[in-house]
Amino acid sequence: MDGFCGLDPDPIETMSKNWKPDSWRNRDILQVPEYGNAAALAEVEATLGKQPPLVFAGEARALRAQLGRVAEGEAFLLQGGDCAESFAEFHADNIRDTFKVLLQMAIVLTYGAACPVVKVGRMAGQFAKPRSTPMEEIDGVSLPSYRGDIINDMAFEPAAREPNPERMLHAYHQAASTLNLLRAFAQGGFADLHQVHRWNLDFVKSSPQGTKFAELASRIEETLGFMAACGLTSENVPQMRETDFYTSHEALLLVYEQALTRQDSLTGKWYDTSAHMLWIGDRTRQPDGAHVEYLSGVENPLGIKCGPSLDTDDLMRLLDVLNPENEAGRITLICRMGAEKAAEGLPPLVRAVSDAGRKVVWSCDPMHGNTIKASTGYKTRGFDSILSEVDTFFAVHRAEGTHAGGVHFEMTGQDVTECIGGAQEITEEALADRYHTHCDPRLNASQSIELAFQIAERLKRQREETAADQVRAASVG
Ligand code: PEP
Ligand code: CO
Repeated sequence: MDGFCGLDPDPIETMSKNWKPDSWRNRDILQVPEYGNAAALAEVEATLGKQPPLVFAGEARALRAQLGRVAEGEAFLLQGGDCAESFAEFHADNIRDTFKVLLQMAIVLTYGAACPVVKVGRMAGQFAKPRSTPMEEIDGVSLPSYRGDIINDMAFEPAAREPNPERMLHAYHQAASTLNLLRAFAQGGFADLHQVHRWNLDFVKSSPQGTKFAELASRIEETLGFMAACGLTSENVPQMRETDFYTSHEALLLVYEQALTRQDSLTGKWYDTSAHMLWIGDRTRQPDGAHVEYLSGVENPLGIKCGPSLDTDDLMRLLDVLNPENEAGRITLICRMGAEKAAEGLPPLVRAVSDAGRKVVWSCDPMHGNTIKASTGYKTRGFDSILSEVDTFFAVHRAEGTHAGGVHFEMTGQDVTECIGGAQEITEEALADRYHTHCDPRLNASQSIELAFQIAERLKRQREETAADQVRAASVG
């Protein structure tokens, strides 16, 4: 296996002339904390610089290759997890439950899309949050905003809100143990297809709208039965009992990302070893800004959040800077327009990218453009708006002849009450029951699986329509 040897590797030529792991420091930067104690910060950076990588270059390359298949229309991407991981909620059961729901979603999507589903968690490193205001005011008291557990503490007290560099070490170690457990789950039998399917049958039985999904579930049952009859079982086919699972987070806190940047001894290329995939948030995607500079020099697959304010020129510049070789799998465009704006906002971006012959994965984040404030004061998102943005995303890609390549959710395996609607019909009044998120509202386990069934049905319908179009075209031709 390839590896990262030592901290000061020989200066092998890197992809960009002037790029260095720290060249982002010469650029304008947004959304960063101001650490009061420079010496403490430097010490943490040095300590982190000596830690083992969390992921390996070969794994990041494997994900990039799989995303390349998504870009070519031969696979589908499922990315999901917490809005913000927290130190307080760190528990093996929480990791297991979120992973389990992602597997349940993946199996129905695999059936719906009839192609491999690439699974990427917002897990094992998703700790830093961009905020709309640098300060938060409550009852006339103003304190720095909470920016995620890797930076400060959520408690509304002056000492808690002070950015503390030691938190980066805590985050690193939590990410390491989370990843360790995920690797064991993915490869150790927990991800067995038959078991995942049984969980889905339980869901279908217990969900108020379960009967609606019974047909799809029984088709999967039939398929697994047919495969077993052909001799394809978990005992003799590793792919049926193991899975590939990758990690991702927003590359926001660049001091942390830089400290985990390593040069691959095999290829001489630089990788951000804090996660397999990193994305640039909607607030920090300035083409000549620090975040874009940093990510331009690492070889990991990258996501770019595309909100309603992104114009086509900026998108083209971002693609030039981040993927000059136009390699499929390097860039995933994660569109988060909002249900209302997607029909108008998405087509110009899709057209510009297609016309320029740019190879990208198109993914839909139907969460971040659909955040509303409930009458009870909670930040929430409606299940119907979420599904509606996904629908528009699929419709736009069908109309433009491009591949709707994936979905990106904020979700958890816990039975929280943070998003309204779904078969459980969570109301605004019920939000107070189990509202646990450290940042944005997440779909709970049942809402997530329900959404996957809804999307799988649409994917299946779309395949049937495309096949019918082809038959029609052939008979006319
Ligand atoms: C997020 O994904 O948690 C996030 C902050 O997204 P965006 O940058 O799209 O607002
Ligand atoms: Co969020």
